[in-house]
Amino acid sequence: MISTAFLAGCKLDITELWRMDGHQSTLLTAGPVAAEQKQVFMVTVWVTLVIFILVGSTLAYAMIKFRARTAEEEHAEPPPQGHGNPLVELSLIAASVGALVIIAVPTLRAIWYTYDVPVEQKDNVYEVNATGYQWWFRFEYPTEQATVKGAQKMPLVAANELVVPAGRPVRVNLRTADVIHSFWIPKLAGKVDMIPNRANFLWLKADEPGYYWGQCAEYCGDSHAVMRFRVVALPQKEFYEWLDQQTKPAREVAAQTAANDQPKAQFASWKGKTPDEFRQNEYGFSSEQLNVSPLEAWRGQQFPDKNEDPALVAQGRKLFGAKTCIACHTVRGHEGAGVTGPDLTHVGARTTIAAGLLENNPEQLRRWLHNPAAVKPGNKMAKGFIDNNIKLTAEDEIALVAYLESLK
Ligand code: CUA
Repeated sequence: MISTAFLAGCKLDITELWRMDGHQSTLLTAGPVAAEQKQVFMVTVWVTLVIFILVGSTLAYAMIKFRARTAEEEHAEPPPQGHGNPLVELSLIAASVGALVIIAVPTLRAIWYTYDVPVEQKDNVYEVNATGYQWWFRFEYPTEQATVKGAQKMPLVAANELVVPAGRPVRVNLRTADVIHSFWIPKLAGKVDMIPNRANFLWLKADEPGYYWGQCAEYCGDSHAVMRFRVVALPQKEFYEWLDQQTKPAREVAAQTAANDQPKAQFASWKGKTPDEFRQNEYGFSSEQLNVSPLEAWRGQQFPDKNEDPALVAQGRKLFGAKTCIACHTVRGHEGAGVTGPDLTHVGARTTIAAGLLENNPEQLRRWLHNPAAVKPGNKMAKGFIDNNIKLTAEDEIALVAYLESLK
């Protein structure tokens, strides 16, 4: 259950601290790999709990039974000191070995099982490549050819939201473009490190369609703590429909008609105002829907906004080139072809921006564009703004937001 305080986004509810059903809970698993890992954890918990109870009760018994009761006892000579009891010592060694064996058997089995897709499921594997960057994730679908222009194709590339088929094993090849990162989706699988010049991989399977929270789990610089991602598991048919849409080039927005010649009310009210400054550790920037039924929120995100303003979108597209966004970002079929930053061909269809940190809506997107350094300290876009003296007026921000949100 999500507590009311969390939904309201006002302040931290104390019960949050011991709830075990959070978005990144490893105790409520959603796939066989995480379930296996949890099982090893639980075996260890039970074995150590038994040891704790035995040692603790022996200690308590000795403290109570042999305590000094009078002043005389307090100052008495210590009892004769022996070297120990061979029977007790041998039994303790045997018990320790026994406890270790109880833990080792499921541990070895889990290492075997979680390492790679089981042989009998190998034919059914779906393969993706994940690459860590400071501080976001690039996802490539090597078997899917995406259209650039005409007959020109390239493997499908996305960022920060990994969409996979539910109920099917997925092999994720892990690479890094810079430092060591670690790939972790607590409810599904992980953690496995992404190490320079080393080919790592992991496998995962989502039992049911769902929306899962992921996180970089290896310290990788300034914004490590906000290097997040999502895994969206879809029913097989919906997954292929999604691939169909993603492999198309970026969406072209139809020309102005009488029905959409009014600028969006939200954008009109933004004119001349700067967005709220982003505060570190800001709490509650995802909507109730994204928290409670995230998969539905994700599905809703796949469709264009009916009130979009074609003129504003066209202006944003022009600015995307003029402000040199194209040097780092690709919008396949449009102008951009940069590879330093995330592919933005279908960015409007993602539920999050800034590597899973902010919800993808016009307001948050504008805050990101307005001051990326405040959201993600040390990031390359913020540095690019300074190095290339890029300045965005409120009108520029509004147009860029309209353009990026149109890319479904
Ligand atoms: Cu990437 Cu921590």
